[in-house]
Amino acid sequence: MMFEIKPLSIADLPLLVVLEQQSHSHPMSEKQLASCLGGRYFAMGAWRGERLLGFAIAETVMDEGTLIDLVVATDVRRSGIARRLLEALLQRWQQAGVVSVFLEVRAGNQAALQLYHDLGFNEIGLRRGYYPAADGREDAVQMAYSLGL
Ligand SMILES: CC(C)(COP(=O)(O)OP(=O)(O)OC[C@H]1O[C@@H](n2cnc3c(N)ncnc32)[C@H](O)[C@@H]1OP(=O)(O)O)[C@@H](O)C(=O)NCCC(=O)NCCS
Repeated sequence: MMFEIKPLSIADLPLLVVLEQQSHSHPMSEKQLASCLGGRYFAMGAWRGERLLGFAIAETVMDEGTLIDLVVATDVRRSGIARRLLEALLQRWQQAGVVSVFLEVRAGNQAALQLYHDLGFNEIGLRRGYYPAADGREDAVQMAYSLGL
């Protein structure tokens, strides 16, 4: 599938809100998403024409990067969009001198776990009951990626 990866700005917020609400059981609010479009955060989007197919939000503090959010629209999943978004983030982080990248993912999110393993992330820990879930709480798997030599 043809798509283009580009940085996102606050002007894209309404499209992010729609995708976020469609994709997460406990989505970030519009206000939370807005706060992730500037400052120490940056966001990349996958576009086909005017349609936002997916996005990734990253945070950088000193030489550490954190993946905050990653979403791809349901009807275009398994087209390599998330992989390309993450590769774009890793490239940006590398250029910015980041050496370690961290993320947390729901222990039951097989698609995301497989994706991160595929890209070379390693599991480094487990936070018990970290996420709210429909039937109580769900563990978070902590993962890391090394950009250093
Ligand atoms: C996780 C998510 C972002 C993956 O997006 P995607 O664009 O479909 O992923 P890609 O097409 O780039 O997949 C790359 C690789 O990830 C793995 N993968 C992706 N989806 C998978 C699935 N449903 N089952 C198993 N492996 C999967 C595969 O290894 C895949 O490579 P392959 O297609 O060559 O086998 C998407 O499913 C999503 O938006 N889910 C809801 C939100 C979410 O869970 N975000 C992550 C929160 S941390």
